[in-house]
Amino acid sequence: MNIAVIAGDGIGKDVTAEAVKVLTRVGEVFGLPVALEHLPWGADHYLTTGETLPPNGYDLLRSFDAVFVGALGDPRVTDNRHARDILLGTRFELDLYVNYRPVRLLADRLCPLKGRGRGDVNFVVFRENTEGVYVGCGGRFKAGTEDEVAIQEEINTYKGVHRIIRHAFEYAAAHGLTRVCMADKSNAMQQGHALWQRVFRSVAAQYPGITATHQYIDALAMFLVRDPGQYQVIVTNNLFGDIVTDIGGALQGGLGMAASGNLHPGRTSLFEPVHGSAPPLAGRNVANPMGAILSTALLLETLGRADEARSVERSVEAAVEAGETTPDIQGARGTREVGDWIAAHIHT
Ligand SMILES: NC(=O)c1ccc[n+]([C@@H]2O[C@H](COP(=O)([O-])OP(=O)(O)OC[C@H]3O[C@@H](n4cnc5c(N)ncnc54)[C@H](O)[C@@H]3O)[C@@H](O)[C@H]2O)c1
Repeated sequence: MNIAVIAGDGIGKDVTAEAVKVLTRVGEVFGLPVALEHLPWGADHYLTTGETLPPNGYDLLRSFDAVFVGALGDPRVTDNRHARDILLGTRFELDLYVNYRPVRLLADRLCPLKGRGRGDVNFVVFRENTEGVYVGCGGRFKAGTEDEVAIQEEINTYKGVHRIIRHAFEYAAAHGLTRVCMADKSNAMQQGHALWQRVFRSVAAQYPGITATHQYIDALAMFLVRDPGQYQVIVTNNLFGDIVTDIGGALQGGLGMAASGNLHPGRTSLFEPVHGSAPPLAGRNVANPMGAILSTALLLETLGRADEARSVERSVEAAVEAGETTPDIQGARGTREVGDWIAAHIHT
């Protein structure tokens, strides 16, 4: 497996070191050759060279089996240009249309909801990853005056909506799941989200064994807090998925626990923890590396290495159970010690 590694900025560097440690250990234990190429892209590189990524950067990424990213974002780069080019740019250029975010609670005590536990928080969110309001379509007229007009379009294409909804149903069918919920705001956004409604109904009709339900996004946000146990698979657009998956991160015990994949099935995909670069925590050996480490499990799973992926998940679960965790989830260990523990407990 040839993996490109972009540690990025802030705690991205801290957690990537641990993810790499675990991935390397998985290679040793399972006899799987893992070749890691570290790419220096991030704020330091941008501020030193003026380059966010090299001219052939996206082609270079395409030449790997997968890409791992720590986090990007640095207060010195106020317009966030490097993060946009590296992260959003890669999503668009490599057409990574599936944002895959499992939300699984690993211990009852980490759940912020009263009276809820592991049985209530175990679902997957599929967020459309290449369209919506994130394409940057729009403009400002008379900017900076009291007559300013700011327009930001939401792009929904049949192709884009169809392929993410289809992926959600395919995933449910392949994993023996029986419920898919689509969330939109079709009562207010009557053009774009009418397309989501139409496509959802037509795709759902092809999966008679799966119960397809719809909720408006505001209702879904409420039910995620009141009754998360009703969900198995959620599919939604780019903006709503961004928000919903942060709620998901909180349900898992915090952003430090949440993993994600940016996928184009069958092509080079990108894996990253959900959290950002958390500058105040950077370099202090306090960041939780579990979201990053669980992202390597998604990477392994996507590359057809289910046993290896499961070994990573098991080891992270064991670390949580043993209290071998960072302070954000009530532990007393450092980032490196947690990574060491998880790497040492990888077994076939
Ligand atoms: N995918 C990405 O690379 C990504 C995602 C979100 C934000 N960002 C960038 O990161 C920078 C900081 O953004 P932010 O503060 O809004 O979000 P953040 O995720 O960096 O931090 C939010 C909160 O969660 C805590 N946190 C996050 N990850 C943690 C971890 N692994 N262990 C322990 N605590 C953790 C932080 O201390 C902070 O309180 C910004 O530049 C932002 O643009 C990048």
